[in-house]
Amino acid sequence: MAVVFSGVQPSGTLTLGNYLGAIKHFVDYQEEEESYFCIVNQHAITVPQDPKQLRDNTRSLAALYLAVGLDPKKTTLFVQSEVAEHAQLAWVMQTISYVGELERMTQFKEKAQNRGESIPAGLLTYPPLMAADMLLYKTTDVPVGDDQKQHIEITRDLAGRFNHRFGELFPLPKMRTPKVGARIMSLQDPTKKMSKSDANQNATIRLLDSEKDILKKLKRAQTDSDNTIRFDKENKPGVSNLLAIHSLCTGKTTEQLEQEYMGKGYGHLKVDTAEAVIEILRPIQARYNELISTSELDLILDEGAAKAREVASRTMKEVEHAMGLRR
Ligand code: TYM
Repeated sequence: MAVVFSGVQPSGTLTLGNYLGAIKHFVDYQEEEESYFCIVNQHAITVPQDPKQLRDNTRSLAALYLAVGLDPKKTTLFVQSEVAEHAQLAWVMQTISYVGELERMTQFKEKAQNRGESIPAGLLTYPPLMAADMLLYKTTDVPVGDDQKQHIEITRDLAGRFNHRFGELFPLPKMRTPKVGARIMSLQDPTKKMSKSDANQNATIRLLDSEKDILKKLKRAQTDSDNTIRFDKENKPGVSNLLAIHSLCTGKTTEQLEQEYMGKGYGHLKVDTAEAVIEILRPIQARYNELISTSELDLILDEGAAKAREVASRTMKEVEHAMGLRR
């Protein structure tokens, strides 16, 4: 039986990259027998967060999960810190992690840069917490964007290491990335991924951006001077990024789009891509605005946490038995 788990950090307004690379696909995975979509606020605090902002972002992400079509009748939506077993299993995973393998993680190296003596230890131990997220539910499938590859690999290593030392308990989770859109690029530097934390506002489309801003940002997107519309990530990263976004929003393949735009200029492609993005975000934003101030949201998260806790506490008992932590 497939068990699906994925998480998103409530660390700012979500981007079109988060949506096209991950959240859009969650809706398909909720049809599996068992699925969990988590708001990973304990990952968010590995870098400093303003408490009020974190609380608001958590709510906002819950509303977005529902607005894109996740249905609490089919899936379990919950907040990581409300299920204590995540931190418990994370500790166990830390005890079987090696400092060397954690220090080699690209994300750690990037985030630790320029922090001198003040690198939060939580940045280093981020992967064992992430492994705990998945393993608590004996997850088999993890829908994520391309940037999570190393995290899934280390999770598989840790699960394997645990099984080897203490007996077979965990399946090794498989990463599931979309064929197109697993890495949506920055609109200003298409060799970098689109990121929540980019200081350049024009680089990132946010899911709650106004129609005017979406159009403006896409019109300013970096392309190249060759003026042919072709999907070629290597040589034409900017144009290929626009084609990928267009394709994901309209359902047309990149080959179809290449045909459609043959002989046309980049201006056309940019405006049409903006329209496609606006169309796809319009109903999501409308539903989000309806949900954000309702108490329904809190009820859904309460029920989600209770459901998740049942499974998580069962796994945690098994782990503790296997390791000799229970009398
Ligand atoms: P986070 O919050 O950075 O991103 C959430 C999801 O969005 C995807 N994503 C992208 N996809 C395509 N193009 C982009 N430019 C882009 N930017 C982000 C990410 O790949 C991710 O799927 N460590 C995780 C959260 C996490 C998690 C987990 C995920 C914690 N525990 C357990 C899966 C399973 C993260 O920081 O995602």
